[in-house]
Amino acid sequence: MDSNRTRAARVESGAAGILESDLLAGLEPERLAERFGTPLYVYDLDVVACRFAALRAALPPSFEVAYAVKANPALAVIARLGALGAGADVASAGELAAALRAGIPAARIVVTGPGKRSGELELAVGSRVRAVTVESPGELDRLEATAAALERRTPILLRAAVTDDGAKRVRLIGGDGAAKFGMDRDDLLACGRRAIDSPHLELLGLHAFGASNVLSAAAIVAHVQATLELAAGLARATGLPLRLVDVGGGLGIPYGPDEEPLDLAALGAGLAGLREAWAADPLVAGARVLLEPGRFLVGPAGAYLARVVDRKRVGGADVAILDGGIHHLVRPALTGQEHRIATLGVLGRAGDGNRREPVTVAGPLCTGLDVFGRRADLPPPAVGDLVAILDAGAYGYTESMPLFLSHPMPAEVAVRGGRAELIRPRIEPSELLERQILPAW
Ligand SMILES: Cc1ncc(COP(=O)(O)O)c(C=O)c1O
Repeated sequence: MDSNRTRAARVESGAAGILESDLLAGLEPERLAERFGTPLYVYDLDVVACRFAALRAALPPSFEVAYAVKANPALAVIARLGALGAGADVASAGELAAALRAGIPAARIVVTGPGKRSGELELAVGSRVRAVTVESPGELDRLEATAAALERRTPILLRAAVTDDGAKRVRLIGGDGAAKFGMDRDDLLACGRRAIDSPHLELLGLHAFGASNVLSAAAIVAHVQATLELAAGLARATGLPLRLVDVGGGLGIPYGPDEEPLDLAALGAGLAGLREAWAADPLVAGARVLLEPGRFLVGPAGAYLARVVDRKRVGGADVAILDGGIHHLVRPALTGQEHRIATLGVLGRAGDGNRREPVTVAGPLCTGLDVFGRRADLPPPAVGDLVAILDAGAYGYTESMPLFLSHPMPAEVAVRGGRAELIRPRIEPSELLERQILPAW
């Protein structure tokens, strides 16, 4: 209990991460594995809370935070952030239902994303969300018709197209022929004018998502500035004062050992400087600015825990095969970027716990893509040891491909104040088999 209190204090001060001294969220990994089975996702809600508090404290008062549910839609995670005052950014009817069920008031939820189907527009309008981000002139038509049919005047943002040159240098209103989000300038202005004339729509402002996983505070500030300038142009063209500018998410976290965390103090100072500059413009001065971070809030708060089932040497390399792989955490295969890997339990075993060696850490899938670490520098794990893939709280389970090869789907566990709770049970292949239909022909 005392150690929990000490840890709670360190979490509060921002000093604690999910893995410390071989403990995961302050708990013995082996206990977690015995209780919930492996592979397993573990989320430390105290770390989530601490990251939210740190971001909130850095932001100027006119900035608000809506958690991007796509990063981790576990109800316990959304509910924790909602209880702390975060809103939610949702990208589907399923995410909207999750945010509402987790207790986030509709007035704090924004609905974003391309290809909204009519049922999704109806749910958004009917729920009276804070704003629906409109991605195209066609979507504006469909949303207006929905709002008219439901007799609900609906607040909207217009989404600007953006291109990222790959180096996180973002250009608004992109025309590289590959952009699929948002609208070009002419469509934006035309939609703005149409929205103002519609009795069923209420134009609040603009939305622009820059780039993903940005670790440079200056790059984020530059994106916010460019978005505000574009939004001010829309306000001048329509004569309507801006009420809300949604600058998207993309706040980064370090995955590799050489990456530095986002400098929150520099981010806060840069954004405060922008705030001063636009306070002079009456069409912009009253605008609230919404950030939609996902990864930043939950990524470092999660770990994927798996057990070593086989060890061998192949081609002169040490290989550890786990009972889970990229079917549960596809990000390393998708991006080519490895996560930090920790061998757990080695210290409790006879032998030299400090010895590190290059180990290939891989999963059980029949594909060469199923590798978490190619020659990762680790205390070499033995069969039966636990291994944690860190920074797996964002775009982990939610982005996985759990059906591939019909392995079990991992359970998810949330830890708060030293107490672990199952938040989604493991799903056995037999449960999925039962849902299939074998035709009688
Ligand atoms: C519209 C929008 N908002 C927010 C996010 C969250 O991004 P991140 O998790 O990088 O902060 C995304 C990610 O794709 C997005 O598309």
